[in-house]
Amino acid sequence: MEIFRIENLMVKYGEKVALKNIDLIIQRGEIFALMGPSGAGKTTLLRILNLFEKPTDGCLVFEGKRLNGTHTEKLNARRKMSLLFQTPSVFNASVFENVAYGLKIRGADKDTIEEKVINALTIVGLEGNERQKARTLSGGEAQRMAFARAIVYDPDILLLDEPTSNLDPANVAKIEEIIMRIRSERGTTIVFATHNIRQVKRIADRVGILLNGELIEVNSKERIFAAPEDARTKAFVNGEMIY
Ligand SMILES: Nc1ncnc2c1ncn2[C@@H]1O[C@H](COP(=O)(O)OP(=O)(O)OP(=O)(O)O)[C@@H](O)[C@H]1O
Ligand SMILES: [Mg+2]
Repeated sequence: MEIFRIENLMVKYGEKVALKNIDLIIQRGEIFALMGPSGAGKTTLLRILNLFEKPTDGCLVFEGKRLNGTHTEKLNARRKMSLLFQTPSVFNASVFENVAYGLKIRGADKDTIEEKVINALTIVGLEGNERQKARTLSGGEAQRMAFARAIVYDPDILLLDEPTSNLDPANVAKIEEIIMRIRSERGTTIVFATHNIRQVKRIADRVGILLNGELIEVNSKERIFAAPEDARTKAFVNGEMIY
């Protein structure tokens, strides 16, 4: 069943075209990887899905409803999603406070907050670090804390912008495990941007290849790597693309 549908979308910043001719359907419960060179438009597309960015042209259909931009509609949709930024921000407070934030703004009570924060920290392997100042976490730990913050309110959709860049292999493996676990336990729909081809092979169901703001191919992981339809996809996944 489809959860997102993008129709003929274009995003322009002044004269600069960041995305164009985008048609894409994301299915509920799938793990969808967005790949493409730096500047191709991956982050912009995630921001469109998250309703942070308004399309210059075209539209986004979420759960069968065309989002025409009424404030309440957007807010309700956004509450079901969580976007983990490329460079996660860390508040100058404890790990617990950092993770609790999303629940507090949703008005959760104290007991629920306590329970869900501990649960999220356990999932990312940071149980016991609640009282630590978040700013003193290592890079890998900070990334896992940001992940806990993204999943703490059980979003239906998790949008991840390069969730494992700058991590060592052990932390990469942990994050990938968490992604798989969240999807199988909660049926969460996951869309992630990455430069890591092996990661896509390990965890994605389907892949979209972005090039210069255009989605040149969307296909199953198997097809993308074994029998791509577009010659540029082949060049990209084989690391032969010059950019
Ligand atoms: N707010 C903005 N104003 C102007 N240009 C922007 C803005 N946001 C993005 N762009 C441009 O749009 C293009 C796509 O950017 P985007 O961040 O989506 O790329 P990306 O695929 O995520 O790249 P990377 O892999 O480096 O993160 C880039 O050329 C970028 O400079
Ligand atoms: Mg980006």
